[in-house]
Amino acid sequence: MNVAPQPAPSAATAAAAAAATAAATDIVATMRGVTRHYESGGGTVKALDGVDLDVERGELLAIAGPSGSGKSTLLGLLGALDHATAGRITVDGKVLGDLSAKESALLRRDRIGFIFQAYNLVPVLTAVENVEYVMMLQGREKDARRARALEMLTAVGLGAHGDRRPGELSGGQQQRVAVARALAANPAIILADEPTANLDSHTASDLLDMMVGLNREFGTTFVFSTHDPMVMERATRVVHIRDGRIESEERRS
Ligand SMILES: Nc1ncnc2c1ncn2[C@@H]1O[C@H](COP(=O)(O)OP(=O)(O)O)[C@@H](O)[C@H]1O
Ligand SMILES: [Mg+2]
Repeated sequence: MNVAPQPAPSAATAAAAAAATAAATDIVATMRGVTRHYESGGGTVKALDGVDLDVERGELLAIAGPSGSGKSTLLGLLGALDHATAGRITVDGKVLGDLSAKESALLRRDRIGFIFQAYNLVPVLTAVENVEYVMMLQGREKDARRARALEMLTAVGLGAHGDRRPGELSGGQQQRVAVARALAANPAIILADEPTANLDSHTASDLLDMMVGLNREFGTTFVFSTHDPMVMERATRVVHIRDGRIESEERRS
Protein backbone atom coordinates (compact mmCIF):
# COMPACT_ATOMS: atom_id res chain seq x y z
CA MET A 1 0.00 0.00 0.00
CA ASN A 2 1.27 3.43 -0.89
CA VAL A 3 0.29 5.96 1.74
CA ALA A 4 1.35 9.56 1.31
CA PRO A 5 3.00 10.96 4.45
CA GLN A 6 0.63 13.20 6.41
CA PRO A 7 1.82 16.29 8.23
CA ALA A 8 1.49 15.95 12.00
CA PRO A 9 -1.72 17.68 13.11
CA SER A 10 -1.26 20.91 14.98
CA ALA A 11 -2.48 21.08 18.57
CA ALA A 12 -5.33 23.33 17.42
CA THR A 13 -6.42 20.83 14.74
CA ALA A 14 -6.28 17.96 17.24
CA ALA A 15 -8.35 19.93 19.76
CA ALA A 16 -10.93 20.80 17.09
CA ALA A 17 -11.13 17.16 16.03
CA ALA A 18 -11.62 16.03 19.63
CA ALA A 19 -14.38 18.61 20.14
CA ALA A 20 -16.10 17.48 16.93
CA THR A 21 -15.97 13.85 18.05
CA ALA A 22 -17.43 14.71 21.46
CA ALA A 23 -20.26 16.64 19.80
CA ALA A 24 -20.97 13.90 17.26
CA THR A 25 -21.16 11.17 19.91
CA ASP A 26 -23.93 11.92 22.31
CA ILE A 27 -23.33 10.00 25.54
CA VAL A 28 -26.30 8.89 27.67
CA ALA A 29 -24.45 7.15 30.47
CA THR A 30 -20.87 6.77 31.66
CA MET A 31 -18.99 4.53 34.05
CA ARG A 32 -15.47 5.42 35.20
CA GLY A 33 -13.38 3.10 37.33
CA VAL A 34 -16.51 1.43 38.63
CA THR A 35 -16.14 -1.40 41.09
CA ARG A 36 -18.79 -3.28 43.02
CA HIS A 37 -17.51 -5.58 45.71
CA TYR A 38 -19.67 -7.91 47.77
CA GLU A 39 -18.54 -9.09 51.18
CA SER A 40 -19.49 -12.68 51.66
CA GLY A 41 -18.52 -15.40 54.15
CA GLY A 42 -15.61 -16.50 51.98
CA GLY A 43 -14.19 -12.99 51.48
CA THR A 44 -14.67 -10.26 48.90
CA VAL A 45 -16.35 -10.98 45.56
CA LYS A 46 -15.32 -8.46 42.91
CA ALA A 47 -18.54 -8.50 40.86
CA LEU A 48 -17.25 -5.46 38.92
CA ASP A 49 -13.62 -4.53 38.99
CA GLY A 50 -12.68 -1.22 37.35
CA VAL A 51 -15.19 -0.77 34.54
CA ASP A 52 -15.01 2.17 32.11
CA LEU A 53 -17.92 2.42 29.70
CA ASP A 54 -19.75 5.06 27.66
CA VAL A 55 -23.27 4.34 26.45
CA GLU A 56 -23.96 6.26 23.24
CA ARG A 57 -27.38 7.69 22.49
CA GLY A 58 -29.33 5.51 20.08
CA GLU A 59 -27.12 2.46 20.29
CA LEU A 60 -28.19 -1.10 20.94
CA LEU A 61 -25.40 -2.20 23.23
CA ALA A 62 -24.98 -5.83 24.30
CA ILE A 63 -23.03 -6.56 27.49
CA ALA A 64 -21.99 -10.13 26.81
CA GLY A 65 -20.40 -12.57 29.20
CA PRO A 66 -20.81 -15.90 30.91
CA SER A 67 -22.93 -16.43 34.00
CA GLY A 68 -21.37 -14.68 37.00
CA SER A 69 -19.30 -12.26 34.90
CA GLY A 70 -21.02 -9.18 36.39
CA LYS A 71 -23.67 -8.33 33.79
CA SER A 72 -26.61 -7.94 36.18
CA THR A 73 -24.41 -6.01 38.59
CA LEU A 74 -23.46 -3.60 35.79
CA LEU A 75 -27.09 -3.06 34.74
CA GLY A 76 -28.20 -2.66 38.34
CA LEU A 77 -25.63 0.10 38.81
CA LEU A 78 -26.56 1.86 35.55
CA GLY A 79 -30.20 1.63 36.60
CA ALA A 80 -29.52 3.30 39.98
CA LEU A 81 -30.83 0.16 41.70
CA ASP A 82 -27.51 -0.38 43.47
CA HIS A 83 -24.49 1.65 44.61
CA ALA A 84 -20.94 1.28 43.35
CA THR A 85 -18.21 0.48 45.86
CA ALA A 86 -15.96 2.93 43.98
CA GLY A 87 -15.96 4.91 40.77
CA ARG A 88 -18.28 7.37 39.08
CA ILE A 89 -21.48 6.70 37.15
CA THR A 90 -23.58 9.24 35.25
CA VAL A 91 -26.96 8.67 33.62
CA ASP A 92 -28.74 11.34 31.61
CA GLY A 93 -26.32 13.95 32.95
CA LYS A 94 -26.80 13.05 36.63
CA VAL A 95 -23.97 11.76 38.85
CA LEU A 96 -25.64 8.80 40.57
CA GLY A 97 -23.49 8.99 43.70
CA ASP A 98 -24.73 12.55 44.32
CA LEU A 99 -28.43 11.63 44.29
CA SER A 100 -30.61 11.15 47.35
CA ALA A 101 -32.78 8.03 47.51
CA LYS A 102 -35.73 10.11 46.35
CA GLU A 103 -33.80 11.63 43.44
CA SER A 104 -32.67 8.13 42.41
CA ALA A 105 -36.28 6.92 42.46
CA LEU A 106 -37.34 9.84 40.27
CA LEU A 107 -34.49 9.20 37.82
CA ARG A 108 -35.56 5.55 37.56
CA ARG A 109 -39.21 6.47 37.12
CA ASP A 110 -38.71 9.19 34.53
CA ARG A 111 -35.51 8.42 32.63
CA ILE A 112 -34.77 4.67 32.82
CA GLY A 113 -36.80 1.76 31.44
CA PHE A 114 -36.28 -1.77 32.78
CA ILE A 115 -36.88 -5.11 31.12
CA PHE A 116 -36.19 -8.20 33.21
CA GLN A 117 -35.65 -11.84 32.40
CA ALA A 118 -38.83 -12.81 34.29
CA TYR A 119 -40.97 -10.01 32.74
CA ASN A 120 -42.00 -8.68 36.19
CA LEU A 121 -45.48 -7.58 35.19
CA VAL A 122 -48.10 -6.94 37.85
CA PRO A 123 -50.31 -10.05 37.64
CA VAL A 124 -53.59 -8.42 38.72
CA LEU A 125 -53.31 -5.59 36.18
CA THR A 126 -54.23 -5.92 32.51
CA ALA A 127 -51.60 -5.38 29.83
CA VAL A 128 -52.68 -1.80 29.23
CA GLU A 129 -52.72 -1.08 32.99
CA ASN A 130 -49.22 -2.51 33.33
CA VAL A 131 -48.00 -0.17 30.60
CA GLU A 132 -49.84 2.77 32.18
CA TYR A 133 -48.46 2.13 35.63
CA VAL A 134 -45.32 4.30 35.46
CA MET A 135 -47.26 7.12 33.82
CA MET A 136 -49.77 6.88 36.67
CA LEU A 137 -46.92 7.28 39.17
CA GLN A 138 -45.82 10.30 37.14
CA GLY A 139 -49.27 11.80 37.60
CA ARG A 140 -50.11 11.84 33.92
CA GLU A 141 -53.75 12.47 33.14
CA LYS A 142 -55.83 9.32 32.64
CA ASP A 143 -56.89 9.72 29.00
CA ALA A 144 -53.40 10.75 27.90
CA ARG A 145 -51.73 7.83 29.63
CA ARG A 146 -54.30 5.33 28.33
CA ALA A 147 -53.77 6.63 24.78
CA ARG A 148 -49.98 6.41 25.16
CA ALA A 149 -50.22 2.88 26.62
CA LEU A 150 -52.36 1.69 23.70
CA GLU A 151 -49.96 3.32 21.25
CA MET A 152 -47.04 1.46 22.86
CA LEU A 153 -48.93 -1.86 22.94
CA THR A 154 -49.67 -1.38 19.24
CA ALA A 155 -45.97 -0.64 18.62
CA VAL A 156 -45.10 -4.04 20.13
CA GLY A 157 -47.83 -5.82 18.17
CA LEU A 158 -50.29 -6.26 21.04
CA GLY A 159 -52.83 -3.56 20.25
CA ALA A 160 -55.66 -6.10 20.43
CA HIS A 161 -54.57 -7.66 23.74
CA GLY A 162 -54.68 -4.68 26.09
CA ASP A 163 -57.39 -6.13 28.30
CA ARG A 164 -55.59 -9.41 29.03
CA ARG A 165 -53.79 -10.10 32.29
CA PRO A 166 -50.23 -11.47 32.21
CA GLY A 167 -51.51 -14.99 33.02
CA GLU A 168 -53.55 -14.89 29.80
CA LEU A 169 -50.52 -14.06 27.65
CA SER A 170 -47.62 -16.23 26.42
CA GLY A 171 -44.09 -15.58 27.68
CA GLY A 172 -43.19 -13.77 24.46
CA GLN A 173 -46.31 -11.61 24.71
CA GLN A 174 -45.59 -10.80 28.37
CA GLN A 175 -42.10 -9.67 27.42
CA ARG A 176 -43.61 -7.46 24.70
CA VAL A 177 -45.83 -5.86 27.35
CA ALA A 178 -42.67 -5.31 29.42
CA VAL A 179 -41.04 -3.62 26.40
CA ALA A 180 -44.11 -1.40 25.92
CA ARG A 181 -44.01 -0.53 29.63
CA ALA A 182 -40.31 0.34 29.43
CA LEU A 183 -40.90 2.58 26.41
CA ALA A 184 -44.04 4.31 27.67
CA ALA A 185 -42.41 7.07 29.70
CA ASN A 186 -39.96 7.81 26.86
CA PRO A 187 -36.82 7.05 28.90
CA ALA A 188 -33.29 8.11 28.02
CA ILE A 189 -32.14 4.50 28.29
CA ILE A 190 -33.71 1.05 28.49
CA LEU A 191 -31.85 -1.64 30.45
CA ALA A 192 -32.72 -5.22 29.57
CA ASP A 193 -31.23 -7.97 31.74
CA GLU A 194 -31.13 -11.16 29.62
CA PRO A 195 -34.53 -10.37 28.12
CA THR A 196 -34.62 -13.53 25.97
CA ALA A 197 -33.38 -16.01 28.58
CA ASN A 198 -36.83 -17.51 29.25
CA LEU A 199 -38.01 -17.61 25.62
CA ASP A 200 -37.69 -20.27 22.95
CA SER A 201 -35.41 -19.27 20.10
CA HIS A 202 -38.18 -18.44 17.63
CA THR A 203 -40.01 -16.20 20.11
CA ALA A 204 -36.71 -14.65 21.19
CA SER A 205 -35.81 -13.90 17.58
CA ASP A 206 -39.18 -12.17 16.94
CA LEU A 207 -38.86 -10.15 20.15
CA LEU A 208 -35.33 -9.03 19.25
CA ASP A 209 -36.35 -8.03 15.73
CA MET A 210 -39.13 -5.96 17.24
CA MET A 211 -36.70 -4.28 19.65
CA VAL A 212 -34.30 -3.52 16.79
CA GLY A 213 -37.26 -1.96 14.94
CA LEU A 214 -38.14 0.19 17.98
CA ASN A 215 -34.50 1.19 18.37
CA ARG A 216 -34.47 2.41 14.76
CA GLU A 217 -37.95 3.95 14.79
CA PHE A 218 -37.73 5.82 18.11
CA GLY A 219 -33.93 6.07 18.48
CA THR A 220 -34.28 4.51 21.92
CA THR A 221 -30.99 3.56 23.58
CA PHE A 222 -30.96 -0.09 24.69
CA VAL A 223 -28.43 -1.86 26.88
CA PHE A 224 -28.87 -5.64 26.96
CA SER A 225 -27.04 -8.13 29.11
CA THR A 226 -26.82 -11.48 27.42
CA HIS A 227 -24.93 -14.59 26.51
CA ASP A 228 -27.27 -15.25 23.59
CA PRO A 229 -25.59 -15.04 20.16
CA MET A 230 -28.93 -13.89 18.69
CA VAL A 231 -28.77 -10.77 20.83
CA MET A 232 -25.12 -10.11 19.96
CA GLU A 233 -25.85 -10.44 16.24
CA ARG A 234 -28.42 -7.66 16.42
CA ALA A 235 -26.49 -5.27 18.64
CA THR A 236 -24.76 -2.22 17.21
CA ARG A 237 -21.94 -2.83 19.70
CA VAL A 238 -20.94 -5.77 21.86
CA VAL A 239 -18.87 -5.29 25.02
CA HIS A 240 -17.45 -8.54 26.40
CA ILE A 241 -17.15 -8.82 30.15
CA ARG A 242 -15.47 -11.50 32.23
CA ASP A 243 -14.81 -11.66 35.96
CA GLY A 244 -16.06 -8.10 36.37
CA ARG A 245 -13.75 -6.59 33.76
CA ILE A 246 -14.32 -5.47 30.20
CA GLU A 247 -12.23 -7.68 27.94
CA SER A 248 -12.96 -6.37 24.47
CA GLU A 249 -15.56 -4.69 22.32
CA GLU A 250 -16.78 -5.02 18.75
CA ARG A 251 -18.64 -2.39 16.83
CA ARG A 252 -21.15 -3.51 14.24
CA SER A 253 -22.68 -1.59 11.36
N1 LIG B 1 -25.87 -9.85 46.39
C1 LIG B 1 -24.74 -10.51 46.17
N2 LIG B 1 -23.97 -10.96 47.17
C2 LIG B 1 -22.80 -11.61 46.94
N3 LIG B 1 -22.32 -11.88 45.72
C3 LIG B 1 -23.04 -11.46 44.67
C4 LIG B 1 -24.29 -10.76 44.82
N4 LIG B 1 -24.79 -10.48 43.58
C5 LIG B 1 -23.90 -10.97 42.72
N5 LIG B 1 -22.86 -11.56 43.35
C6 LIG B 1 -21.68 -12.19 42.71
O1 LIG B 1 -21.12 -11.25 41.81
C7 LIG B 1 -20.70 -11.88 40.62
C8 LIG B 1 -21.41 -11.26 39.41
O2 LIG B 1 -22.79 -11.54 39.50
P1 LIG B 1 -23.84 -11.05 38.42
O3 LIG B 1 -23.66 -9.61 38.20
O4 LIG B 1 -25.18 -11.52 38.86
O5 LIG B 1 -23.37 -11.86 37.12
P2 LIG B 1 -24.17 -12.19 35.77
O6 LIG B 1 -25.39 -11.34 35.72
O7 LIG B 1 -23.18 -11.93 34.68
O8 LIG B 1 -24.50 -13.67 35.85
C9 LIG B 1 -20.99 -13.37 40.81
O9 LIG B 1 -19.82 -13.98 41.29
C10 LIG B 1 -22.07 -13.38 41.85
O10 LIG B 1 -22.06 -14.58 42.56
MG1 LIG C 1 -27.38 -11.85 35.52
